Amino acid sequence: MAKAVRLDKFLADAGKGTRSEVKKFIQKGQVQVNGVPAKKPELKVDPEKDTVVLSGETVGAAPEFVYYLLNKPAGCVSATEDRNDRTVMEYVPSDRKGLFPVGRLDKDTEGLLLITDDGMLAHELLAPGKHVDKTYYAKVKGVVTKEDQEAVKNGVDIGEAKLTMPAKLEILNTDGEYSEILLTIREGKFHQVKRMMEAVGKTVVYLKRLSMGGLVLPEDLPIGQWRMLTTEERKIIKRL
Ligand code: URA
Repeated sequence: MAKAVRLDKFLADAGKGTRSEVKKFIQKGQVQVNGVPAKKPELKVDPEKDTVVLSGETVGAAPEFVYYLLNKPAGCVSATEDRNDRTVMEYVPSDRKGLFPVGRLDKDTEGLLLITDDGMLAHELLAPGKHVDKTYYAKVKGVVTKEDQEAVKNGVDIGEAKLTMPAKLEILNTDGEYSEILLTIREGKFHQVKRMMEAVGKTVVYLKRLSMGGLVLPEDLPIGQWRMLTTEERKIIKRL
């Protein structure tokens, strides 16, 4: 028999919001347990026996692992803790232990970041030799040319032992001073996009990750917001 847990913990673990958010749902009468409106966050529920409904939708028991897709804002670091800076963990519910970001985006980079407690998956996604396509949108200072596209396709020197792996550079537009590009890379070296653009004489002034494998940043997910991966998206990352 599953252990009884507090209603607010049950809802938060099921990804319905932070502990304080779900408490508000309870206070507003949006939560029913076995058909009866629940008034107290500390009410004990048995995930196997009790039916919890939030705003008309039945809430399942806490999954084994959670997968948050965060639209990372600039100004926070991709770490579980940091002495000086805000971390990405401050943007997702904190009720589960062992959550961490899968890989890193720079402090000033925005966009798609996966946060999970599934260590095995993260290990596999980040293993050396595991090359998952990652597409970035960047605004760069300078006019990006066909020659730059060709250079990036062949690999550029970013000061490592080897040239970078072949990558795809698309030019969206340029106004003669700045250019907007999409760059798809398969590796994940430190500051890789910025260093690749420096290698062709351009400076990245804005960077956002749009996709990783088949996982795409939802256009309607505001910066600083998260949502759970859908079942379909979970299948995509397990296949990577
Ligand atoms: N490349 C970079 O330069 N920075 C990032 O955050 C991600 C890729």
